[in-house]
Amino acid sequence: MTQQIGILTSGGDSPGLNAAIRGVGKAALGHYQMHVIGFRDGFRGLMENRTMPLDGGQLSGILTVGGTILGTSRDKPHKMPVGGKILDMTDAIVGNYHDNRLDCLVCLGGGGTLKNALRLKKKGLNVITLPKTIDNDVWGTDITFGFDTALGIATEAIDRLHSTAHSHHRIIVVEIMGHRAGWLALGAGIAGGADVILIPEIPYDVNIVAEAIRERARGGKPFSIVAVAEGALSVQDVAALAPAKRKKKEDDTEADAAEIVYAGRTLKLAERLEKLTGLEARVTILGHLQRGGTPSAADRILATRLGTACADFIAKKKYGVMVAARGEDTVPVKLEDVGSKVKTVPPDHSWILSARRVGTNFGD
Ligand code: F6P
Repeated sequence: MTQQIGILTSGGDSPGLNAAIRGVGKAALGHYQMHVIGFRDGFRGLMENRTMPLDGGQLSGILTVGGTILGTSRDKPHKMPVGGKILDMTDAIVGNYHDNRLDCLVCLGGGGTLKNALRLKKKGLNVITLPKTIDNDVWGTDITFGFDTALGIATEAIDRLHSTAHSHHRIIVVEIMGHRAGWLALGAGIAGGADVILIPEIPYDVNIVAEAIRERARGGKPFSIVAVAEGALSVQDVAALAPAKRKKKEDDTEADAAEIVYAGRTLKLAERLEKLTGLEARVTILGHLQRGGTPSAADRILATRLGTACADFIAKKKYGVMVAARGEDTVPVKLEDVGSKVKTVPPDHSWILSARRVGTNFGD
């Protein structure tokens, strides 16, 4: 019997999402003669039953397009703002899944999306996820699509900041996304030749960073590039965060107490470095620039590879898994095995060791 599949994109958008939708859709339609529909704006669209046909024409011309043709949202099935209240809309989602006679729901997203998909699996739905995020922090896959493109954008930004830092004898602190993982800042910092790289996995001491910058100045290089991950923390931040985290758990509020510690940290870091080194400091926050625009060739290939493998798994009724990249292979990883795990940078990762060998300072 013809299989009917639904596709949605959830969480922050990412270059390569359309390439992945196209990969799943074209393989499902053309190779397996399945029926395919899209749901708009993530789990919210599924809850509201807002569908979009994905029967061929919509899948053409999107390989190179950034963003997602389906739209996205950060809505969670079990905690959805509806009419001024936060409601558990899981039953409505399960109902729409059945009303649309779906055999499988494909969720393209990062760690949060995977957890939501797992909740739906536990409600008896057939789900498959594809690992998407510029943060590259999804456990169980070598890489996520979106990362390579964002890495290229952040690297180019560092390249450009180098010449202006050099001309003005300044410190430029460039903040790079990545949530609570350092992959993007580390990769772009290495590729762009940043003098200092600060990542969440290695708490830093601002005095050590300042001394590294002063040492460069003494050696005739009175400028420095500091690539800081948005989730990087100083040793003092880590200490301040511990009670904030505890408070959040006790109060069980929606407000993330940790944000108090994270807010404005890069600006404060630049101010401290200016004071400690006597060099002028400037801040560049790359922000959502890193998520926009056309996907790189590597992301197009990865998204196509994972998307088409997803259709293969559906054809074999291999549900309840994330389609993961492992070397040259594409493997199913049980959603339960991923759960809430996050892939952070191991402090002894080869990228870090290589960066240290070329003299990069990590503030430790
Ligand atoms: O997960 C992708 C990401 O871009 C993170 O790097 C960043 O912390 C977050 O999303 C920003 O989210 P939003 O687009 O909701 O501001």
